[in-house]
Amino acid sequence: MSSDDATQGPHAWFSHDRFGMFVHWGLYSLAARHEWVMTNERMSIADYERYTERFEADLYDPAAWARAAKAAGMTYVVLTTKHHDGFCLWDSDLTDYTSVNTPFGRDAVAEFVEAVRAEGLRVGFYHSLIDWHHPDFVVDGVHPRRGDDLEALNADRDWDRYRTYLHGQVRELLTRYGQVDYLFYDFSYPHGRDGLPGKGPDDWDSQALLALTRELQPGIIVNDRLGIPGDLTTPEQYQPTGPVTDESGREILWEACQTINGSWGYDRDNHDHKSPELLVRMLVDGVSKGGNLLLNVGPTGRGDLDPVAQRTLAGIAAWTSHHERSFRGAGPAPFTPPADARYTLRGDRLYLHLFSWPMNHVHLSGLAGKVSYVQFLHDASEVRFEEATANDEPHGSLTPDAPQDAVTLHLPARRPEVVVPVIEIFLKE
Ligand code: GLC
Repeated sequence: MSSDDATQGPHAWFSHDRFGMFVHWGLYSLAARHEWVMTNERMSIADYERYTERFEADLYDPAAWARAAKAAGMTYVVLTTKHHDGFCLWDSDLTDYTSVNTPFGRDAVAEFVEAVRAEGLRVGFYHSLIDWHHPDFVVDGVHPRRGDDLEALNADRDWDRYRTYLHGQVRELLTRYGQVDYLFYDFSYPHGRDGLPGKGPDDWDSQALLALTRELQPGIIVNDRLGIPGDLTTPEQYQPTGPVTDESGREILWEACQTINGSWGYDRDNHDHKSPELLVRMLVDGVSKGGNLLLNVGPTGRGDLDPVAQRTLAGIAAWTSHHERSFRGAGPAPFTPPADARYTLRGDRLYLHLFSWPMNHVHLSGLAGKVSYVQFLHDASEVRFEEATANDEPHGSLTPDAPQDAVTLHLPARRPEVVVPVIEIFLKE
């Protein structure tokens, strides 16, 4: 789908809204050292299963997650129904390895869906194609048992049975919880890892799984990690350098998925967190290139957001509370921004996001004759501007070197007290 088509039809909300919350939560939250802990430490199933006994999640309160997301300006929330460890957060008929069979004892997905909708947000599911717990999942290059005798280990594994399980669980998720707006499948690796085999669309039967997904939830948005084209692509832990295109050069929908600290699951000793300022810049940078941001939180094993996540979301909320209209419903602008800045455009309003604070003026090339009014977005205070004209005295003007086609904004010496200052520019009709 091209980004033009994306402004209409069932997926229009997605490019309009721009900002969602990713939630990685499961047994690995108890280990608290990366959601890949099972395979990173090559743990046996029996060893890893000990976390099921500790899964009490006494502070599980998806309404609090949803409120924090909404305050930060996110309009959709995507929860890990099952991660690669195979543990399911819903009451599946197809396995006992679920949140119901833990001290917590409940269907976490059901409560999540209700809480998210109650806040008026959209519901997304992340679902792992990979499953390190299922007895029929063929051991490969990312599996916890990858160093063992694969031939012996895989001899009795019945792949058809796993595939049926995978499709059956997707059917459960897409038939039991009402409207699901977004499905984030994860992931395909047909070329394997470290010389060992991987898995891809033929293994998952991705065509059939995608068809099933669309049949059960018409209008759903599906990513491309089934290894076949979906509705969008999901750059992970990097910011694309420009609009994202498919092989034929057509622009496609995209959403960068980003972490606070590099891990998706709760990672207690990882203090590598990004500042709210950096995260707001990433949101704005993405929107200026036509993309969304799906920002992750990894709640603790008790089910709540740790202080860093809470502070981070609150920091973002302080910004979005006054700047929502610079990204919501906005997209790329057909002008080149000055250095250290990003433009977004929403109708006849152009938003200039200043990533560093200039001294007194900023020149906006190509805007001469096009601007009717300018103000700061956070407080609606007027920003005076002038246009360089051929008649200006070279040394009489405050800005003698302004480009001829520029509008020059006069800025105060002090940067406004917001993490990313935004100037709202009203363009002439
Ligand atoms: C990766 C990782 C995973 C994480 C996901 C989020 O593919 O395997 O742990 O859930 O990306 O995009």
